[in-house]
Amino acid sequence: MKKNILITGGAGFIGSHVVRLFVNKYPDYRIINLDCLTYAGNLENLRDVEHAPNYIFEKVDILDTNGLKQAFERHSVTDVIHLAAESHVDRSISDPLAFVKTNVIGTVNLLNAAKDFWKGADDRLFYHVSTDEVYGSLDHGGFFTESTAYDPQSPYSASKASSDHFVRAYANTYKLRTVISNCSNNYGPNQFPEKLIPLCIHNIRNNKPLPVYGKGENVRDWLYVVDHARAIDVVFHKGKIGETYNIGGFNEWKNIDIVRLLCQKMDEKLGRSAGTSANLITFVKDRAGHDLRYAIDASKIQRELGWEPSLQFEEGIGKTIDWYLANEDWLDHVTSGAYQQYYQAHYGK
Ligand code: NAD
Ligand code: DAU
Repeated sequence: MKKNILITGGAGFIGSHVVRLFVNKYPDYRIINLDCLTYAGNLENLRDVEHAPNYIFEKVDILDTNGLKQAFERHSVTDVIHLAAESHVDRSISDPLAFVKTNVIGTVNLLNAAKDFWKGADDRLFYHVSTDEVYGSLDHGGFFTESTAYDPQSPYSASKASSDHFVRAYANTYKLRTVISNCSNNYGPNQFPEKLIPLCIHNIRNNKPLPVYGKGENVRDWLYVVDHARAIDVVFHKGKIGETYNIGGFNEWKNIDIVRLLCQKMDEKLGRSAGTSANLITFVKDRAGHDLRYAIDASKIQRELGWEPSLQFEEGIGKTIDWYLANEDWLDHVTSGAYQQYYQAHYGK
């Protein structure tokens, strides 16, 4: 079936991998990337697909209800994959309201636009992409499953939890056909260098300090971003309406161990003597309310939809470092701000 899929946040880290996968894999679908290009939106991420005949970019803010309505009408949108969000926990601590606006109100605006445009049609899908952080923080044992009670601990996770609840409320109240997935920490190419892994790669390359919060004992569960995009493809096509799927790679690491691994691998790749980059590790003040541990039980999506990660972590982290080293332009444009001129220069508006 031909589909006109609105992907929100497609200029961001995960969104750009989802857009690329859908544009290349499904030439019969029209992919409308709707993004307002915040600091995290970077159209350079999509250089390789921007001229594809089934790809369209719409610069629209999900807070702009009229802009959303027009986009649905202009492109006869049949499905939504919603990734647009404020995504960085540290920013949510310094400016929680921005997260309420985009993640909560923006999501409700998008739900309204879909509900009003689709008018109860029974072949539409609103797919909401969410995070494992809605489940809160784990101690040293156990995993988050799809039935773990929500217990968000940061302004970011509270805003994502709220958006998940609104999606379920629209499914119940208006019979909107929805599906939600909650994924663990992603890493890979095109991640904005405010997040731990690209920040460390960038700083090691430039001999700058590697800030490790607290003692570096917090644990995150890492998944290669292309595997997340593959999971989104599977959930979109095979997920059961109204269901939730947890996505993760059963791949837990303490932050300090990740940072040490990056130092060791980059010493090798940069031809530095062993131990050079580890001297850059600097323990700094802990993040306020820092969640201790996330760990996803991804057995439901594996069992019911047949998805599993394609890459082991050692391979994925090696590919990731290689990508950042081979794409110094991308990093330099992001750190200098030049990437923000791309829309003006290439779309001429
Ligand atoms: P990102 O910050 O890299 O990208 C977010 C994108 O959304 C950017 O392109 C930005 O311009 C756009 N955007 C922000 N506000 C907008 C608005 N008001 N209107 C239109 N567009 C707007 O984020 P990411 O890391 O790619 O995460 C994407 C989604 O996946 C988010 O919903 C996030 O909560 C979720 N998620 C992320 C991770 C992770 O590890 N990064 C893990 C699980 C879930
Ligand atoms: O779990 C999924 C979530 O993962 C997503 O929903 C979020 O959008 C995404 O940003 C990510 O959140 P984290 O807070 O876990 O990611 P971040 O890369 O910011 O931090 C990873 C860990 O590293 C965390 O324990 C904090 C720590 N950290 C982070 C930074 C930026 C440091 O020690 N030093 C740093 O400089």
